Amino acid sequence: MTTTVTITGAGGQIGYALLFRTAAGDMLGPDEHVRLRLLEIPQGMAAAEGAALELQDAAFELLDDIEITDDATVGFDGADHALLVGARPRGPGMERGDLLAANGGIFGPQGAAIAASAAPGIRVTVVGNPANTNALIAAAAAEGVPTERFTALTRLDENRARGLLAQTLGVPVRSIHRLPIWGNHSATQFPDITHTTVDGRPVLDLLAAQVGDVRAWLEETFIPRVATRGAEIIRVRGSSSVASAASATIDHVRDWVHGTVDWTSAAVVSHGEYGVPEGLISSFPVRAIDGEWRIVEGLKPDAWAQTRIDASVAELVAERDAVRALGLV
Ligand code: NAI
Repeated sequence: MTTTVTITGAGGQIGYALLFRTAAGDMLGPDEHVRLRLLEIPQGMAAAEGAALELQDAAFELLDDIEITDDATVGFDGADHALLVGARPRGPGMERGDLLAANGGIFGPQGAAIAASAAPGIRVTVVGNPANTNALIAAAAAEGVPTERFTALTRLDENRARGLLAQTLGVPVRSIHRLPIWGNHSATQFPDITHTTVDGRPVLDLLAAQVGDVRAWLEETFIPRVATRGAEIIRVRGSSSVASAASATIDHVRDWVHGTVDWTSAAVVSHGEYGVPEGLISSFPVRAIDGEWRIVEGLKPDAWAQTRIDASVAELVAERDAVRALGLV
């Protein structure tokens, strides 16, 4: 079988990392051939063309074809997966409204092009920020495509949270399970350790011995560190997160297609779960079963956790209202 994967912003940094991981079979598995479509804007075409030359030189056995275009209808033609990475970054002096409007000008037309030309089973993963609201805009423009097919990436936040917890406890990251992210992929996100286990044992028991006052550690150390990890990477590395963002995107799509063994995190459309207004694309604890994300139900966040969730969801509501005022959703 051959799967068509369209990557927007393929000439950019995350695109560059994603192309090679995807062509190597890390996303869809060792038995699936891949047809890559690289969608760029005219200024990014040369970088995408250069990446395509390197892909050819890597001689990936699973890679059947590469096409590069700056035409969205061509780019999404027959796409089974759309990884929407290209976005408009916030420029100097740019207000939030300007940023949302600029991204509306990208994700609206891309949503419409997906509806017009993608494969019927298209699955969309939005990476470009503000990811949740960009996904909402694309979904609104994609008439006839179920909103359940539009997701935004919060797996990087979960991976960061698991990594930091593993480091704190001195255990390998594979020991840590059930650490979902709630809400927006932004500083308000809530990494939730309520149900987290370490080799099957509740983390809350282990953490008290390690950090003392767990609530204070969460509020003052853990949550801010996870939420501002992107800025920390920029400070230390001198450039934004690239390989880790691509890796999380690979994790997200692989799990969506092949299923999860336990909970993970993804921003998916709400049907009103946990008080999140219907229609918002918010991060939840999820499982992937039979190729579909299912929100983990029946959890009972305590008052403190619910306040955290509500704060992040309030930010999503404000973003939705802003793009609604612009006529984008
Ligand atoms: P980059 O600036 O290196 O690459 C972006 C690429 O997108 C450029 O080549 C640009 O030409 C292209 N592009 C812009 N508008 C486009 C359009 N309309 N159609 C197709 N291509 C378009 O940026 P980088 O580092 O690759 O990051 C990409 C996005 O991912 C940013 O918005 C960043 O904030 C976001 N991001 C999201 C994360 C998440 O966890 N959700 C994590 C890290 C980054």
